[in-house]
Amino acid sequence: MEIKVLPLPADKMKPKCTDESKLGFGKIFTDRMLMAEWKVGQGWVDARIQPYAPFVLDPACLVFHYAQEIFEGLKAYKWADGSIALFRPEMNARRFNHSGDRLCMPAVPEELFLQGIEQLVKLEKGWIPSMEGTSLYIRPAMIAVEPVLGVKTSDHYYFYVILSPVGAYYAAGFKPVKILVEDLYVRAVSGGTGEAKTGGNYASSLKAGLEAKQKGFDQVLWLDGVHRRYVEEVGAMNMLFAYEDRVVTAPLAGSILNGVTRDSVIKLAAALGVKVEERQIDINELMADIRSGKLKEAFGSGTAAVVTPVGTMSYKGEALTIGDGGVGKLTQKLYDTLTGIQHGRIPDTFGWIRKIA
Ligand code: COI
Repeated sequence: MEIKVLPLPADKMKPKCTDESKLGFGKIFTDRMLMAEWKVGQGWVDARIQPYAPFVLDPACLVFHYAQEIFEGLKAYKWADGSIALFRPEMNARRFNHSGDRLCMPAVPEELFLQGIEQLVKLEKGWIPSMEGTSLYIRPAMIAVEPVLGVKTSDHYYFYVILSPVGAYYAAGFKPVKILVEDLYVRAVSGGTGEAKTGGNYASSLKAGLEAKQKGFDQVLWLDGVHRRYVEEVGAMNMLFAYEDRVVTAPLAGSILNGVTRDSVIKLAAALGVKVEERQIDINELMADIRSGKLKEAFGSGTAAVVTPVGTMSYKGEALTIGDGGVGKLTQKLYDTLTGIQHGRIPDTFGWIRKIA
């Protein structure tokens, strides 16, 4: 599919952030965006790269009422030699369509998803920051824009991609976070939409997140919705737990996200000779293992969160420090290796890097 490039008038160009240490996460957007529309009877039409601009949408659009929406998150990195790399974008393309299938939305041809992102990022390459810990966050999304109040699948969708130069997701940077194990609210159940990257999952997590913040925690760790016993994920990241001789993480059983970073750290850990188990994790056993010191490290993985160390976990009023509360050795090694590959400092032996310039 041809992607038209519309002119960018000088008055639509924004000043770039001059202090990359102040980027934060997802607050600044570049000059251009990718857009394509799907219309019933026509399929995908009018793919274009246009100046970044607000949408004018009918208040009756389905997305505003019934939340038919999906999104993705991936990053572009500027290497020291000036080249630009994407990290496993094919996995995002597949997951996007997997989410779309669950939400009854039309598949975006992988070529449109990948070519569109590549072309857009190349045009916006001047926005990719280069300071350690920074990157260009890429946010593809699809929304249902048919204006009708009946509950139905839409006749009209927007697929779009916006770009945001970012620093660390957590304000403190690469520092251990405090996690509250949620025992009142649930995020998802098997058969629901937990595995899809859809806004509703995040909307329903806000209340628990807010209450956790009020108690001094950074995020909540969800338990399974049926037994309220097995560890699932933290909303913005999958969770992994490191013992002396192995790493344990929850299985992909339908209610958690199939994280690109999760998959990558599993493969990196295995390549380091660490045994990785994907299995149900009983929260009571996990807390007992923290208490006894058997559990050495805990960390989250996510595109935005990268590899984030967890220093404290609290469950039913008992707050426990994991290891010495600092950044564990394996956590540090996985962070260094992953970001090393992403930024071109370490050779990519996995075939994950897609150089685009
Ligand atoms: C990502 O890691 O890309 C995500 O989509 C998490 C998001 C909620 C910031």
